Amino acid sequence: APRPNTPVGTYDLVVVSNRLPVDKVTRPDGSVEWRTSPGGLVTALEPVMKQADGAWVGWAGVADDESEPFEHDDISIVPVTLSAADIEEYYEGFSNDTLWPLYHDVIAPPTYHREWWESYVRVNQRFAEKAASVTATDGTVWVQDYQLQLVPKILRELRPDLTIGFFNHIPFPAYGIFSQLPWRAQIIEGLLGADLIGFQRAADAGNFTRAVRRLLSFTTKGTAIDVPIDEEISEAIEPARVSTSRRGSLVRTVHARHFPISIDTQSFEDLARRPDIQARAKEIRAGLGNPKVVMLGVDRLDYTKGIGHRLKAFGELLADGAVTVEDVTLVQVASPSRERVAAYQQLRDEVELTVGRINGDYSSISHTAISYLHQGYPREEMVALYLASDVMLVTALRDGMNLVAKEYVASRFDDDGVLVLSEFAGAADELKSALLVNPHDIDGLKESILEAIQMTKSERTKRMRALRKRVRDYDVSRWSTAFLSTLTDPSGTPSYVATK
Ligand code: G6P
Repeated sequence: APRPNTPVGTYDLVVVSNRLPVDKVTRPDGSVEWRTSPGGLVTALEPVMKQADGAWVGWAGVADDESEPFEHDDISIVPVTLSAADIEEYYEGFSNDTLWPLYHDVIAPPTYHREWWESYVRVNQRFAEKAASVTATDGTVWVQDYQLQLVPKILRELRPDLTIGFFNHIPFPAYGIFSQLPWRAQIIEGLLGADLIGFQRAADAGNFTRAVRRLLSFTTKGTAIDVPIDEEISEAIEPARVSTSRRGSLVRTVHARHFPISIDTQSFEDLARRPDIQARAKEIRAGLGNPKVVMLGVDRLDYTKGIGHRLKAFGELLADGAVTVEDVTLVQVASPSRERVAAYQQLRDEVELTVGRINGDYSSISHTAISYLHQGYPREEMVALYLASDVMLVTALRDGMNLVAKEYVASRFDDDGVLVLSEFAGAADELKSALLVNPHDIDGLKESILEAIQMTKSERTKRMRALRKRVRDYDVSRWSTAFLSTLTDPSGTPSYVATK
């Protein structure tokens, strides 16, 4: 039961994430619009939430917004307010300048500031209190991503009656890296407030479990972790989740498993089959001067995505004369992201300098080497781009999953197109028929790009069919169903077949 005097809500399933599925946008005339927010998380969870009668707790993407809860597109939206200082310290600071680079194998150096940590604690407390107040007795709360790792523990203290899941959308680093974090034990303890902690790859779950052993010396067996609890707490928890350890103390069993996230595959295929979108794809190719080969990169402008490595490889292929701008062009969509964080400003400068140099050196009046677009686009336009592109380049240096790779595959109902995919993206565990690359190996990357360009039609079809099968069989609804059913009954056979 909930603790006495704690307010309870009415929703049986509550998702908590830093960002709501919609951002609040105020137009110049002062009117307000709620617009679909950027990033893979929203794409992944929106269909899940439309099906469930649940609520979504999160931030509207602007400072000091105090909007009341409302319905949007059949989803109940419960906004959490962040002040300008919270945004600077909790979001831009600790989430995106400490945790993000640390969890992506320190590709950029993480910054450690005690004020940022204190803000992270305060804001996590606020999210937890909000979630606690809207969730029904014995309800389920599903907490999302690295911005909210303390929420499970706070929530469990406020509401021991709840079933709590957590899913980490980004990688979880090896202990040698994670241990840099001055607040490493607090983060682990925060996460262990959940009943089920989900990760993208088996390796991430393993890294987490090892961190638990190293830092807290708790017993682990496979994916199960025994978390010692006291008697008072044990009485409030579902009996099936409590047991007595070999040493005779009471423990709560927490599971850490991998559930590779996916997309709403069918909706991408449906868009790709639309005649207007196919016409748009043709128009895009014509606009590019109908080159023999169109290559495509689509990323948030983020240093984890390996955009520089991709540009270097393409630039060298042009310099070598292995490809020419008449034959091969690269479209690079780099959607604006976290623009107030210094590392992102620096990355933008580097990328734009490189694009400018390559275009200056190799473009002709009629053919541009790289069409660079620092913009975000609606889903329809993205699918047209996917259809228009012969080669999709996903060269992340580290990526939790990379849903763009799956979106490309889902859109190619014609069984054509070649996916070049970094082995450092979570998607590589599943999409084994892609051309897997190590983006740090520029020569290897160049060879793979040439192989993609020159691949025969029958080989392309064979590979794309295999990729499409995986993305069709494992779509996002299967992902969320697997997570939620494992959360309800961790002993049940996982319906989501594990990837090695
Ligand atoms: C990644 C993260 C998400 C995040 C998204 C966009 O996909 O896993 O949690 O929402 O990037 O980043 P932003 O900082 O704009 O929310």
